[in-house]
Amino acid sequence: MQETQIFDGDCLDAGCGTGALGRAVAQISGVHVMFFDQSPHMLQLAQSYVYEERIAQRSRFLQGDIHHIPLASCSMDLVISRGSSPFWENQKQAYSEIVRVLRKGGRAFVGGGFGNAELRERIVNTMLERNPDWNKSFKERSVRMREALPDILKQTNPSWFEIINDESGFWAHICK
Ligand SMILES: C[S@@+](CC[C@H](N)C(=O)[O-])C[C@H]1O[C@@H](n2cnc3c(N)ncnc32)[C@H](O)[C@@H]1O
Repeated sequence: MQETQIFDGDCLDAGCGTGALGRAVAQISGVHVMFFDQSPHMLQLAQSYVYEERIAQRSRFLQGDIHHIPLASCSMDLVISRGSSPFWENQKQAYSEIVRVLRKGGRAFVGGGFGNAELRERIVNTMLERNPDWNKSFKERSVRMREALPDILKQTNPSWFEIINDESGFWAHICK
């Protein structure tokens, strides 16, 4: 929220899963959140949480694929997405769709990470216990995607974009 400075309007949580990010944003702002995921099961979970958290009146749910977002162009003020982009098969198409649904001047904040350095270390250690090769395959895939991202974002013709890579994780911040 600090980065985007968007506190009202329509927000798409792309690849929302249980809606943890969209729900957190709704709690500290006045945005209306469209929870969007390819998995009906995840959307059902997200739906149950918004009732518990009393943000149901500002929540809607949409099932679909990020590569063909079933929304009109220029219909969203903010697109947020955490932890979903590594699963998108065609990164260029997915980011083009994100920019397409943004209104002029709208922002997207897309990426993920482990929250902070301490949490990262705990997660990496747990994953290494489960699979000693985890770090290698994870790193290789992440590095490939990160290297390709600036060119992909340029091709979506945003007003500007920046890549944030700090202990909060790796994020693309895009302004249409
Ligand atoms: C690791 S979860 C992250 C969930 C949530 N954003 C969070 O931060 O907790 C990834 C989510 O992305 C969704 N997803 C993956 N590929 C997708 C696609 N092509 N279109 C829409 N959703 C997708 C999955 O169904 C899953 O719910």
